[in-house]
Amino acid sequence: MSLYTINPTSTQAWKKLTEHYEATKNNHLRDLFAADTNRAENFSLSWNDFLLDFSKNKITKETIALLLQLANEVNLKDAVQKYFKGDAINETEGRAVSHTALRAKKTDTVLVNGQNVVPEVYEVKEHIKTFTTAVISGEKKGYTGKSFTDVVNIGIGGSDLGPAMVTEALRFYKNNLKIHFVSNVDGDHVHEILKELDPETTLFVIVSKTFITQETLSNATTIKNWFLKSGSQEDIAKHFAAVSTNTEKIAEFGIASENVFPMWDWVGGRFSLWSAVGLTIALAVGFENFDALLVGANEMDEHFKTENFDKNIPVVVALLSIWYNNFYNAETEAIIPYTQYLSRFSAYLQQGIMESNGKSIDRNGKSIDYQTGTIIWGEPGTNSQHAFFQLIHQGTKLVPADFIGFKKSLHGDTDHHNKLMANFFAQTEALMNGKTADTVRKELEAKNMPKSEIEKLVPFKVFKGDNPTNTILINSLTPKSLGSLIALYEHKIFVQGIVWNIFSYDQWGVELGKQLATTILKDIKESEIADHDGSTLQLLQSFKK
Ligand code: F6P
Repeated sequence: MSLYTINPTSTQAWKKLTEHYEATKNNHLRDLFAADTNRAENFSLSWNDFLLDFSKNKITKETIALLLQLANEVNLKDAVQKYFKGDAINETEGRAVSHTALRAKKTDTVLVNGQNVVPEVYEVKEHIKTFTTAVISGEKKGYTGKSFTDVVNIGIGGSDLGPAMVTEALRFYKNNLKIHFVSNVDGDHVHEILKELDPETTLFVIVSKTFITQETLSNATTIKNWFLKSGSQEDIAKHFAAVSTNTEKIAEFGIASENVFPMWDWVGGRFSLWSAVGLTIALAVGFENFDALLVGANEMDEHFKTENFDKNIPVVVALLSIWYNNFYNAETEAIIPYTQYLSRFSAYLQQGIMESNGKSIDRNGKSIDYQTGTIIWGEPGTNSQHAFFQLIHQGTKLVPADFIGFKKSLHGDTDHHNKLMANFFAQTEALMNGKTADTVRKELEAKNMPKSEIEKLVPFKVFKGDNPTNTILINSLTPKSLGSLIALYEHKIFVQGIVWNIFSYDQWGVELGKQLATTILKDIKESEIADHDGSTLQLLQSFKK
């Protein structure tokens, strides 16, 4: 069954939100806190070991009520049911969007095209388990009888970003295998990685949902040729594994059938780390940890599927983001994790969020005249404080931000962790409160600065504050909590796509890039250059000189 197509701007809630925005936009966050002593409690949600404090947002109870009304008017409930029921809600590709089935419980039934896919999912999980256990233990060996020391993940987009982000995020739980990622078609990338490797002890995992992606196939071929300088054609079976929906193409590449891991077209690339695309994750941290990641995601799925919208973490964060995107005209959102382990988190979310919701055609095929997908960026704190926080504090742009922090550090260095978290709390407080001219004056007077100098400096040292943030405070960074955190953002993407009346699960814009590069590659290789605009022509001629 198709998703409803409702223009969100035609709803009653949208009209009321527009008026509500005009009426409340000048209320400073400081005043909102002063007006309600229970504000923190009123705008917080606790779930498992997560605490979402969204009280530092420019909202009142009425804002939330209207945003929830918007969710109801666009029929979010019906959409959630269709999502989990395996309906073909990726309509432009005629596919279901069932990555949640990858983390379903063994006893669950998840129908895709009328068929329960859970047994197949568990078959592949069992294969991941046996394969990764044999590699990690050293039982599975390379062509000269040595155990593997290195693993190279060859993939791009969803076949790289998810595994790379999670492998880094779970570094604390890592075993001795050294993990490398080759993604860019830039030959310097692959050759830099190869420089470090010994063909006798390296396992290569080619990950490509389609197995036709130029970058991945070029890298895989370069690596295969490099490998064949030492090993033979038969040895490929011992050193290469592949994950794909395209089993025919895998066979052509010469990969042994026991090293082939299927995936399915009902799993989008950017939501695929839970499938065999996560093979590298399971190699890096062991199957148990990989499975715990899936359990964490499954728990978030259950929360999202069953909890009332007003207590539903993905729904609430999605609606808040719509509030800023569509009413405050905020163009970007920052994701600031206060842990170095999540250094790839915003890069990962850039694909998830921007590839999904970067659309300007609605579900009726009509052009949209309101804002959709937000621009995502971010870096871990505290490094980001010394890089771009100046702009968030005192620039001209509104940048709503998610602060993600953990109560416990993994290495247990309390001194460092207290300092880290002091910054975490201080920044959201400062972004909210700002610093008034009076406070600045008092601070400078305390330093015995002459009055005339103080007055000159005051405007530069004033922080207007009123910058909205969400705080997500989690007990500790474990495979399970990470799984829940990623799933939270996945469902946020879904909710926003439903409200904006777009299809979140295709990516025609990226497909175009793939076609264009193929045409120009011909121009580069052949003597004649086809017709192009003057600039492209000049650049191509200069490149070929
Ligand atoms: O970047 C576009 C895209 O189609 C992504 O959606 C996907 O994750 C990536 O290319 C890689 O595709 P594949 O896994 O088929 O090689």
